Amino acid sequence: MFSVAIDGPAGAGKSTIAKAAAKELGFIYVDTGALYRSIALACIEMSIPVDDVSAVSAALEKISIELAFVDGTQRVILNGKDVSDEIRTEKVSMSASTVSGIPQVRAYLLELQRSFAKTQNVIMDGRDIGTVVLPDAQVKIFLTASAQARAQRRTLQLEQKGEKPDYEKILEDIIKRDHNDSSRKIAPLRPAEDSIIVDTTELDPEQSVNRITELIKGRMK
Ligand code: DC
Repeated sequence: MFSVAIDGPAGAGKSTIAKAAAKELGFIYVDTGALYRSIALACIEMSIPVDDVSAVSAALEKISIELAFVDGTQRVILNGKDVSDEIRTEKVSMSASTVSGIPQVRAYLLELQRSFAKTQNVIMDGRDIGTVVLPDAQVKIFLTASAQARAQRRTLQLEQKGEKPDYEKILEDIIKRDHNDSSRKIAPLRPAEDSIIVDTTELDPEQSVNRITELIKGRMK
């Protein structure tokens, strides 16, 4: 099996790029952030504070998460319900970042993530794919961009959905989430030693996809 790990901070374009590259290469795309988001959503629904380590850990036995692939697109099923759209709110983003610092949560999701790469060629994106989940991945990419560029992209995305986003608040949230994700004790966001660092600050989505796809194709030869 061939595995590609794409890690990097929120908003660097991981999912857009991984999705497009997976389509071009015929790989499945696994978005691992959706798993952390689903645990956060489950806690919110059960009124469990996401920073209460023992309550969140105890709740894990009541949580079942599965991924389904419909026309090549990942859907995430939480306790039998498709929550793929519900997990995309800012509240869930922040809560996912908090639950992701809990070792029991990471251990709970580890085997599930590894199981996908055992039977299929995958492009998996997250924060610790190259360092922890798939340390033997044939290609490891660390995708990054300035916080300002990432906040700008997110603002544009929300405007296109008809919302009225506040750029400064988005930038503040991005910086806070970067800090949370890279300063936590367990599996922090950092490039694997053997990863290729790609900075997309000055690249448009098409250029980024081309760059990554070429990199992967080069390694598959
Ligand atoms: O990629 P995302 O923004 O959907 O991820 C949501 C949160 O989940 C993110 O703030 C950090 C966490 N996460 C993680 O710790 N490890 C992963 N492999 C993926 C996501």
